[in-house]
Amino acid sequence: SAPALRDRFGRTADYLRLSVTDRCDLRCTYCMAEDMTFLPRNEVLSFEELYRLCLIFLRHGVRKIRVTGGEPLARRNIMALFGLLAPHLRTGDLDEVTLTTNGTQLSRHAAALFAAGVRRVNVSLDTRDGARYAAITRRGRIEKVLAGIEAALSAGLKIKINAVAMQGGFETEVDDLIRFAHGQGMDLTLIEEMPLGDVSHDRRASHLSLTDLRQRLSRRWTMTPLPDRTGGPARYMRVAETGGRLGFITPLSCDFCAGCTRLRVSATGELFTCMGEEGSVGLRDVLRSGGSDQVLAARILDAVSRKPKGHAFRISSSGVAGIARPMSYLGG
Ligand code: GTP
Ligand code: 5AD
Ligand code: SF4
Repeated sequence: SAPALRDRFGRTADYLRLSVTDRCDLRCTYCMAEDMTFLPRNEVLSFEELYRLCLIFLRHGVRKIRVTGGEPLARRNIMALFGLLAPHLRTGDLDEVTLTTNGTQLSRHAAALFAAGVRRVNVSLDTRDGARYAAITRRGRIEKVLAGIEAALSAGLKIKINAVAMQGGFETEVDDLIRFAHGQGMDLTLIEEMPLGDVSHDRRASHLSLTDLRQRLSRRWTMTPLPDRTGGPARYMRVAETGGRLGFITPLSCDFCAGCTRLRVSATGELFTCMGEEGSVGLRDVLRSGGSDQVLAARILDAVSRKPKGHAFRISSSGVAGIARPMSYLGG
C-alpha cells in the first residue's frame, strides 16, 4: 500500500488542515489587517482540485480533515465539498471531518454539516461582550455567532469555543467564557496569540502568557489535567465547578511540536508542513498542468520528509519573531 507520511523525526502525519478560502467576513485584529486584499478567484483551488488532493492524502494515511479558511463558510457552495468528503466517513477511510469557523453563518449550515457527517465544529469567540466582540472583529455582530452556536448545538454538533487570549479585559472575561461554554456542554480552548501576519497592532502589548493565566485561573477554579487529545495542540483540564473541559494552546510558552502530526494545505494548493515555516511546496502547478497523482504524491512525501522539527515563534521584550503570512491564509 501507499507509504505513510513520515518525517525524519519519526512523526507520521494523519491530520490535514485544509484551507478553502483566504476570505473572511470579519477582520479580527490578531489575524488580518483592516484593508485586506484577497486572492483572485482563479488562484484558489476548485472543489475538484481540493478533493483530488484529499484523496491522495487519504491514500497516504490521513484520517482526519479539518476544513479551515479564512472563513470556510464564506466560500460559495461550501457544502458541496463536505458532500464529496462524506462518503469517506461512511466507509471508514476517514475518522473525522471537522470545521473551524467564526460562526457568523453557522445557523444556515448547521443541519447540513451534521447530515454530511461532521460531528464537531470549533467556533471562534473571544469575548461574551458585544462591544468588545465588535472591536476585536472590527465588523462582527455577536448575535450572529450566538445564533450560530445555538443552531449547531440543536443540530447535534459538538462545539469547541476558541478564544485568543489578549491583554486588556480578557482576564476578567475568561470566567464568563468558561461559564458560557461549559454551561452548554461546550469545550473552551484558550489560544496564545501567535505572531503571524502583517497586522498593525503591537504583539508585545497584546500578548498574554497562558502559562501565567492558567496559574491565576487555578486560584479561582479547580482544574485537573486530562489525558484527552483531539489531534491538535490543545492540552485539556477538567474544571471541577462546571464539569467542563478547558484547553490551552500555548505555542509561545510551551512547545508541542514534538508530537505534531499535522499538515496544512492553503486555498491555493500550497503544502505547509509546519505553521512556522515561511516556505511551502506548490501543488497547484502540478494539478493544473495535467500532472499525475504519482507526481503529486511524490511532492507531498518529499515535503513531509523535510518537515521541520518545530516553529520558533517568539514574543519577548527584545522583539517579535513571527511570519508575515496572515493567519487567514492558512486558517491556523
Ligand atoms: P482539534 O483538531 O479539535 O484538536 O482542533 P484545534 O484546536 O487543533 O484546531 P483549531 O482550528 O480550532 O485551532 C485552534 C488554534 O490552534 C488555532 O489558533 C491554530 O492556529 C492553533 N494550531 C493548530 N495546530 C497548530 C500547530 O501545529 N501549531 C501551532 N502553532 N498552532 C496550531
Ligand atoms: N494567534 C492565535 N490564534 C489565532 N487565530 C487567528 N489568528 C490568530 C493568531 N494570530 C485563531 C482564530 C481561530 C483559529 C483558527 O485561529 O481565532 O479560532
Ligand atoms: Fe476571520 Fe478567523 Fe481571521 Fe477572525 S480569525 S478575521 S474570523 S479568519
